[in-house]
Amino acid sequence: MTRDETLVVSIDGQIVAPERATVSVLDRGFLYGDSVFEVMRAYDRRVFALQEHVDRLMRSAGLVYIEVPVDAARLAAELTAAVQASPYPDTIVRVHVTRGIAPLGLDPTPARGALRVVIVAPVHPPTLEDYRSGIAVTTHRTERAADNTEAAGAKVANYLVSLLALRAARVVGSKEAIIVDGRGRVLEGASSNVFLVKDGVVLTPPVTEGILPGITRSYLLRSAEALGIPLRITTLTRGDLAGADEVFVTSTVREVLPVVVVDAREVSDGKPGPMTRALHRRFREFTGASGPLPWEDHEGSETV
Ligand SMILES: Cc1ncc(COP(=O)(O)O)c(C=O)c1O
Repeated sequence: MTRDETLVVSIDGQIVAPERATVSVLDRGFLYGDSVFEVMRAYDRRVFALQEHVDRLMRSAGLVYIEVPVDAARLAAELTAAVQASPYPDTIVRVHVTRGIAPLGLDPTPARGALRVVIVAPVHPPTLEDYRSGIAVTTHRTERAADNTEAAGAKVANYLVSLLALRAARVVGSKEAIIVDGRGRVLEGASSNVFLVKDGVVLTPPVTEGILPGITRSYLLRSAEALGIPLRITTLTRGDLAGADEVFVTSTVREVLPVVVVDAREVSDGKPGPMTRALHRRFREFTGASGPLPWEDHEGSETV
C-alpha cells in the first residue's frame, strides 16, 4: 500500500513519472541486494549535510566495488534537481546505486552500468507524542550482512536482518531495535545510532565497531562540543543502557529521539532527559529547520 502523495523519481539523472519509473528484473540490486544507498532530509528544499551524504554514498560504493558512473558533484546536482521538482518543501531523499545488470549468476565482475535512482517524498518524522514522551526500544543480538566483513560500515541495501530485528521489536511495542553483536557490544539501532548520557557525559560506540558512521551522529557530536558537554566514544553494553541517565537514538528522519524504555525497563525516571533536549535543540540549528521544535508541535507519522 502506498500513501497518496506525489513522489519525484529520477533514474540515471532523468526525472521520470513515478508510474513509469521501473527497474529491470535483472538488476542486481533486485536480485541480490547488490546496491548501496543514502537517505537524506531536505528542510525547506535544502538538503541537510548534502556533501557528507554524497561522500558516504561514494565511500559505501567503493567498499563493495560498485563504480558510480558520475562524480559526487554531478550526483549532488541530480538529487538537488529532484528535490526542487517536489511539491513539498520538507522531504526525504533516497538515493540508490545498484551494480546494474549482468548475466544471471552471483559473479559481480561482468556487471556494467551501475544504475542510480533518486526518490523524493514528503518526510514523515515520528509523532509529537514520541518526541514528547520518548519511545521504547528492544535489544536484539544478531549479525548484519556486512558485519565483520571488509564492507562493515557501508550503507548496503541488504537490511533484512535489521528489519527482522525491528519486526521483533514492534511485536512487543518497541519502536526501534538496538543491535547487539556476538560479544555483547551495543552497536546501533536498526536504522539509527545510539547514545546514552551518564553523570553528565555523552557516550556512543565508536565507528571502528562496524557501525554506520551516522551523519546525524556526527552533528550530534558537534552539538555536544558546541554546548561544552563532555563526550566519550566507547564500547557500550546492555548494562550501560540499563544504568543510563538518558538514552536517545539519532537518524536523518528522526533527528534525536528520546528512548525511555529499554527491554521493558524504564531508563532513569522514564522521561526524556534535559541533555537529550539540549542536544536536539542545538542539532536543529545545524539543519536550518524553521518552525517549532519536534516535541513542541508538528504533524507526525506512526510509521517510523
Ligand atoms: C544502521 C544505521 N545506523 C545509523 C543510521 C543513522 O544514520 P544517519 O544519521 O546518517 O541517517 C542509519 C540510517 O538509516 C542506519 O541505517
